[in-house]
Amino acid sequence: MNQNRVAIVTGGARGIGAAIAGALAEDGLSVAVADLDAAAARATAAALGAPHRAYEVDVTREASVTALFDAVEADLGRPSVLVTCAGILLFKPDGDRPLVVETDLDHWQRTMTVNATGCFLCCREYARRAPADDPLGRVVTISSVAAQLGGYRSSAAYIASKSAVIGLTKALGRELAERRITVNSVAPGLIDAPMLRLSLDPADDARASATIPLNRLGQPADVAAAVRFLVSPGAGYLTGVTIDVNGGYRMQ
Ligand SMILES: NC(=O)c1ccc[n+]([C@@H]2O[C@H](COP(=O)([O-])OP(=O)(O)OC[C@H]3O[C@@H](n4cnc5c(N)ncnc54)[C@H](O)[C@@H]3O)[C@@H](O)[C@H]2O)c1
Repeated sequence: MNQNRVAIVTGGARGIGAAIAGALAEDGLSVAVADLDAAAARATAAALGAPHRAYEVDVTREASVTALFDAVEADLGRPSVLVTCAGILLFKPDGDRPLVVETDLDHWQRTMTVNATGCFLCCREYARRAPADDPLGRVVTISSVAAQLGGYRSSAAYIASKSAVIGLTKALGRELAERRITVNSVAPGLIDAPMLRLSLDPADDARASATIPLNRLGQPADVAAAVRFLVSPGAGYLTGVTIDVNGGYRMQ
């Protein structure tokens, strides 16, 4: 069923994105590992082997996103799956998260541009190229528990940008429903991946785990498992949903 399905995973070079790329490759999709860090993307794609390929992309640039889709289409075929995992989290030079009153416009704009606008540009390009009917068409965005809770460890700009991702997911879900394409989000909690390590020292893992009902940090594979489900043919009746992968850190 998954043969001939092509997936683009942005931010696929490392961390959660690399785990998602690996899971989709395991399920038989052809995966385009797309990242700003071209060398890391190449290493990740090489580890997956053929037919998977690496692509350099800056999701904040329209031309770069268009070129990515052109190249993937030429090499692997039209992508029916898009996973938007590229993201950034910025801190102050002293390592603390900036309060709103300390947030300068550059911090705000850089964060929004990568996390929200970058997601939008990829989703728009996907939607522009998607056929009139694709029951296996899937978009999965990666948001964050920070958007749902207000965030204890991240900046206001990050929280706002990931809230925008959840809103965009719903808007696009409604728009693409008539084409039978689903659009959903996965909201990770505290995941043992590079972004969390910007603010959590491994020595504090036990203390952080104690705030999580399942009493451990999540692993990239935990997030990949949810994405894999949303991409699967059996998930065709979910759209506009945000799946929490947070060990019970936030229950709704
Ligand atoms: N680690 C966590 O605890 C956690 C929790 C909630 C949400 N998330 C989200 O999951 C995603 C992955 O997080 P991670 O911890 O694996 O972080 P990471 O920093 O390892 O991954 C982010 C990837 O995005 C790429 N990237 C950054 N800017 C880009 C751009 N302009 N164009 C293309 N690629 C770009 C980076 O090169 C990197 O490979 C992010 O969107 C993050 O916000 C992570």
